Amino acid sequence: MWSFISTWAFSSQAAEAGAELLKSGGRAMDAVIEGIHRVESNPEVDCVGRGGFLNEKGELALDAAVMDGDTLKTGAVCAVRGFEHPVDIARALMDKTRHNILVGEGAEEFARKMGIPESAMEDLITETARENWRKAAGIGHDTIGAIALDEHGSMAVATSTSGANMKLCGRVGDSPIIGSGFYAESGVGGACATGWGEDIMRTCCSFRCVSLMAAGMSPEEAVTTVVRTAHETIVRHGGKPDCIALVCMNAKGECAAACNHREFSYAYIKEGMDAPLVLEKEPVLDKDAGNTFIDGVAGYER
Ligand code: GLY
Repeated sequence: MWSFISTWAFSSQAAEAGAELLKSGGRAMDAVIEGIHRVESNPEVDCVGRGGFLNEKGELALDAAVMDGDTLKTGAVCAVRGFEHPVDIARALMDKTRHNILVGEGAEEFARKMGIPESAMEDLITETARENWRKAAGIGHDTIGAIALDEHGSMAVATSTSGANMKLCGRVGDSPIIGSGFYAESGVGGACATGWGEDIMRTCCSFRCVSLMAAGMSPEEAVTTVVRTAHETIVRHGGKPDCIALVCMNAKGECAAACNHREFSYAYIKEGMDAPLVLEKEPVLDKDAGNTFIDGVAGYER
């Protein structure tokens, strides 16, 4: 049984590409990388790779990560400029070195040594991204995260994002931080996150989710518990949670998603399906629903 899940409706192209590989016996790691490439190259996706949100100086500085669930090896890069596919740098770091994370210039230098193609920054920045930056319009911070299980039982996860719109130079979100933005262990499960990285990081969402599956919870129970706990913990300590959303998969390829805000969508495909399903998830609790959780568990100040 193979299976693939990824964050947001825009990742249906990733799920299609990943499924093509998985259905012909391909590896989970290759499937998540291939899927993420599609989204990194799509200038219409405003939060990943080409066309992504810009930092306060108007630069495109990208974060990405991979994790191999068979070996627990991981590679991540932060604030990388001048590369369309930061996920390739993350994979090279995982495959070719004993390090886990490289940042900024060090990551860029490593990528050049590895022969990963560079792009002029201006070629990666779209007019829409420039316009959002000029107006400082909206707040964007989403991530493509993808989890795959292949027919050999191997699991892999990868993430890629431009991070928060107008972020401070050097800011790093959850997406390249192991245990926060992503985690996978073959035989147990995988998880990855999208949303406001600072809130996801301080509640270590992805490792928690995989730990709960390891302890016997179903994907649905685990991911719902993680989002609820993260949100409620931040509230209990006087904070106001921003967007937190996760997708996860167990070792049987069963998938689930949860969020604390409206309009979170994800794509999902497994063996036996012709095309990915794109589903929108009702929030477990709603950060924007005034001072009341959807299920009435507790009130909080906005
Ligand atoms: N979740 C992406 C970020 O906050 O950078």
